[in-house]
Amino acid sequence: MALLKPRRWIQSVALAALLPLPVIAAPAVAKTGGPASCAECHLQEIEAWKLSVHFKTLNTMHRRPETVAMLAKLDLKNMKSEASCIECHYTSELVMDQSQVTTGISCESCHGAGADWVKTHGDYGEGVTKATESTEHRTRRRATAIANGMLNPDNLYGVGANCYGCHILNDEKVANVGGHSAGSAGFNLLTWSQGEVRHTILAHDNKANPEATPEHRRLLYLVGCILETEFSFRATARATEKAAFGITSARRADAARKQLEKIQSLAPTPELAPIITVAKAAGLRLNNVAELTAAADRIATLGHELAERVTGDKLAALDPLLPDSAQYKGTPYQVVAKP
Ligand code: HEC
Ligand code: HEC
Ligand code: HEC
Ligand code: HEC
Repeated sequence: MALLKPRRWIQSVALAALLPLPVIAAPAVAKTGGPASCAECHLQEIEAWKLSVHFKTLNTMHRRPETVAMLAKLDLKNMKSEASCIECHYTSELVMDQSQVTTGISCESCHGAGADWVKTHGDYGEGVTKATESTEHRTRRRATAIANGMLNPDNLYGVGANCYGCHILNDEKVANVGGHSAGSAGFNLLTWSQGEVRHTILAHDNKANPEATPEHRRLLYLVGCILETEFSFRATARATEKAAFGITSARRADAARKQLEKIQSLAPTPELAPIITVAKAAGLRLNNVAELTAAADRIATLGHELAERVTGDKLAALDPLLPDSAQYKGTPYQVVAKP
């Protein structure tokens, strides 16, 4: 088994010899240090994560009756040794040179495998603190980490793409034969990142974990809706038979592109216009892999550009569309005040 296995949707794109590879890739096993490699400096992020389903799933998922039934239908044995399940359900590390599941969905599932950046991404320099670091050093430090594979949260489209890559299934067989859901119903970057997944602790001096600002919430919502379009197109591209997977994916893709139009009518954004044009032109049909994958790739490029340029202060007109905090998924971590 190849150790540096890219996630399957990337592989499929490559096999279909379409456009250049998207920027996302599953953490490379050999470069994954696991959450222990973050704990020394990010104690509270670890505490927050330990309360989440992403952590707990390591000991629960494979025991669920529906998992056992699904594996039987797919003629598979152990979920923790099946590459096609591991890629979305677990983190693997090298243990005595063997790839082994060690954790559920963890820091590096979202921020990239750490080996090449973990030591340097937060290094202000000898005798220097966050307050005294020069702007030039900070810029270089962050650029180096990104070049070494770190998915910095500033790259909101990139980090968000990881969420949607897991939360929208693009394997027809796993859904139609195994009975797996075609993806998390109602998944949205805003509501699903602001509940139990929320960790804004670093930006608040380790003293609080507040929800995103109103400006950032608008951006999370808009970027989430573009990612929803990209990844539901990728899923629909994989549909070859008229059954649950293809129908659910195509409906999801159509709803996603309609939502983009609604957003555009409320808060017109020049960067969103070409995304809508691409999304509306693509045919949401069975066996349309080339056209739908090309559209998804184009949406990814345009989505990255939008996320870099657009700021939430220009999107106030979106507020009536934004789900409120009652819809956040799970309970956010509370920083415990030190006496
Ligand atoms: C040796 C200490 C140390 C370790 C170990 C460490 N970090 Fe960090 N990390 C920091 C510091 C310090 C910062 C703040 C940097 C700054 O002020 O720009 C940071 C910032 C971050 C950021 C925010 C980056 C940004 O530019 O906003 C992320 C994401 C992150 N770390 C993830 C991780 C992950 C994931 C791991 C484990 C794989 C990890 N870190 C391990 C010290 C560390
Ligand atoms: C594209 C990523 C992805 C792949 C591949 C994947 N899963 Fe999942 N799986 C998920 C997500 C996300 C959920 C949570 C669904 C939700 O929120 O409703 C989930 C949920 C489940 C559930 C709970 C029941 C359900 O359908 O929601 C089972 C059981 C399961 N997966 C088993 C498997 C097995 C076995 C494999 C390998 C054959 C596998 N999964 C492959 C992402 C994936
Ligand atoms: C490596 C794949 C993967 C990535 C990346 C990922 N998730 Fe998940 N997530 C899952 C799976 C699988 C489950 C379901 C686990 C279970 O039910 O045991 C899940 C569960 C969740 C839950 C709990 C849902 C519930 O039913 O309570 C939330 C919230 C969530 N994810 C949000 C996010 C957000 C937000 C992101 C991106 C910032 C993200 N996830 C990235 C795979 C992933
Ligand atoms: C499910 C995906 C996911 C997981 C798991 C995850 N992160 Fe993050 N992380 C994010 C996202 C998304 C953001 C930025 C959200 C935003 O821009 O609103 C972020 C932001 C951060 C930041 C910057 C926060 C700030 O206050 O500026 C740090 C530091 C960080 N993560 C470290 C970690 C560490 C350490 C772990 C493991 C304990 C971890 N993350 C696990 C998705 C994840």
